[in-house]
Amino acid sequence: MQPIPQPALQSSSAATTRMALVTAGPTEEPIDEVRFLGNRSSGRMGVALATALAEHGWRVRLALGPIRIAPPCHPLVEIVPFRSSQDLEALLRAELPAADLVVMAAAVADYRPRVVETGKMRRSAEGMTLALEGVPDLLATTKTARKPASRVFGFALEPAERLRASALEKLVRKDLAGIVANPLETMDAADIDGTLFLRDGRERTPGERCSKEAFARWLAAELSTMEVS
Ligand code: CTP
Repeated sequence: MQPIPQPALQSSSAATTRMALVTAGPTEEPIDEVRFLGNRSSGRMGVALATALAEHGWRVRLALGPIRIAPPCHPLVEIVPFRSSQDLEALLRAELPAADLVVMAAAVADYRPRVVETGKMRRSAEGMTLALEGVPDLLATTKTARKPASRVFGFALEPAERLRASALEKLVRKDLAGIVANPLETMDAADIDGTLFLRDGRERTPGERCSKEAFARWLAAELSTMEVS
């Protein structure tokens, strides 16, 4: 496999004073005090992106869900942990007003238990039905907390056959500067075949399927170059 060409790292003062907010990992939606509904997001992409942006001089606030991989270790990356979608919503409202760049790589639940039981629910021979409620679309509902002129990017995991159509629909509905669309098969995989769709109609790719870390380096370079150009 050929190495992916990477633009030179930015050392621009425009970038060094700027703050990027990256979210990564799954949410855990509590059922009771010991159980939760989760998802299989590894957090690898968001973690790699936080480091890659820091290498371009960004001060990074990494909102990090409960992941099993090692967290990033870079002097410009500060980790802010979250567990549930409710935690993440509060965190976004607190962090968005100061963020110049936002990349929402977290895999946020779409549903959560309507009632969180106290203690540990007991086993019942009759089984049980769990009532769920919708989780608000965090990117859309926290829109008013965004810093004016900030650029906000989302991720979308889509079946290959409707990748472009769904990504473009989400880009508009969530009022984003761009969205990275990945085929569904990349969930939990080491590699990614992502496309960056921009609000102005442009589409960018690294040119080939690559590791999540290589994709993150490519994306960080794209976002940093766009910023200073
Ligand atoms: N997202 C969010 N709030 C949610 C769900 C998702 O902010 N409750 C964000 C994700 O972090 C991601 C983007 O929205 O950046 C797209 O996530 P995705 O799960 O693809 O979109 P949904 O709006 O949940 O649509 P669907 O699950 O129907 O495809």
